[in-house]
Amino acid sequence: MKVSVGIVVMKAIMVPQDLQPAHSQCGQNSLSRPCQRIYKSRYSSIIPGHSVSARSILASSNHFQYATPSSSITSPNPTIHTTPAAPKVFYAGTNIAGFDFGCDTSGICPLGSITPPGQHGIDQMTHFVSSDNLNTFRLPVSWQYLVADTLGGPINSENFAAYDELVQGCIAAGAALCIIDIHNYARWNGGIVGQGGPSDNDFIGLWSQLAAVYNDTEQIAFGIMNEPHDLSLGTWAETLQAVVNAIRSAGANSNIILLPGSGYCAAGGFLDDSAAFLKGIQNPDGGTEGLVFDVHQYLDFDHSGRHAECVSDMIDAVFRPLAGWLRENGRMAFLSETGGGSDDPSCLRYVCSMVQFLNQNNDVYLGFTGWGAGSFSTGYVLSQTPYLTTGSGMTDQPLVKQCIIPDFR
Ligand SMILES: *[C@@H]1O[C@H](CO)[C@@H](O)[C@H](O)[C@H]1NC(C)=O
Repeated sequence: MKVSVGIVVMKAIMVPQDLQPAHSQCGQNSLSRPCQRIYKSRYSSIIPGHSVSARSILASSNHFQYATPSSSITSPNPTIHTTPAAPKVFYAGTNIAGFDFGCDTSGICPLGSITPPGQHGIDQMTHFVSSDNLNTFRLPVSWQYLVADTLGGPINSENFAAYDELVQGCIAAGAALCIIDIHNYARWNGGIVGQGGPSDNDFIGLWSQLAAVYNDTEQIAFGIMNEPHDLSLGTWAETLQAVVNAIRSAGANSNIILLPGSGYCAAGGFLDDSAAFLKGIQNPDGGTEGLVFDVHQYLDFDHSGRHAECVSDMIDAVFRPLAGWLRENGRMAFLSETGGGSDDPSCLRYVCSMVQFLNQNNDVYLGFTGWGAGSFSTGYVLSQTPYLTTGSGMTDQPLVKQCIIPDFR
């Protein structure tokens, strides 16, 4: 297998997840008022139970046409909706990895391990959009790469140009959402952001620069940080709040921001650990529009994402209770990493079942991106990288073909 060392390390280090308890455009630079009006006039009558903030998260996206709200669940009178389309999440796709390769859980990201997905990554996104109707890609990148290893420094123009090519490729492919993901585990070379390592200002500086670049690009979502772990959640929530303030004040008023909790973002640990700390994070206007919780969930026995076999769809243990909490609190979550063996019968069963549940609960699950494609070889255990077909075109991995595409079309 041509799996890079970085990939193995990255997944290997996710082992601590098993310590988590199992139960555990509208106006680009506005707060999307026109969008909100459209959304309300179109949907508010059929989802009267939705809280304002859940509704406004959707309103912050002008891509709600990609999905049909689940009227069967929330309508007080289903008979007026005679032929509702099958419910589905608004955003679905995969990770286009490579600019993060080599990052380990201590936030060490050797620049030499970076493996840009390049044109192949762009071709994959084009394929996923045009052949499969997927619409969302998460684009992991290391912090060190963006600033050329200079903590607190300006974004390096050469490195950023290479990354931005992938971002622009995502947009040009026709994606509705392209997620910028800083893949650093809340760390820089072993030090925790705002907790003895880099200062909040170092991190805010990075995000202010990124937000200023993309503040008029409606397809961009800001994934503040991949898989924080082993830190003080109270302090981390303050860091997140400062980053949200910085992103909004850079003019990115309506872009979706993904808020990651601790415990490697494990969805199974969110309610017990992160929820109480993260739910108070607000926009400068005091609302929570566009602020979406970022969760990960792998379906193998230790939830590490290192094994081909899946043991559960995690619906009863994780996704149903989380949906209940999100609904009660008028919030949404995005599952930005999930997956299983590319062609394993147990994963074909459980990932399909999980995706179906997310679709049925699209009032609280905004979307998901699988792990992973991009620079991963087609032989990587969790590969979602399509096979190159002789002649032209690409052929999807069985898991993508059977579980992700059909439910999202
Ligand atoms: C977006 O960022 C640019 C700098 O790239 C800045 O000039 C502009 O004022 C920002 N937009 C808003 C609405 O703040």
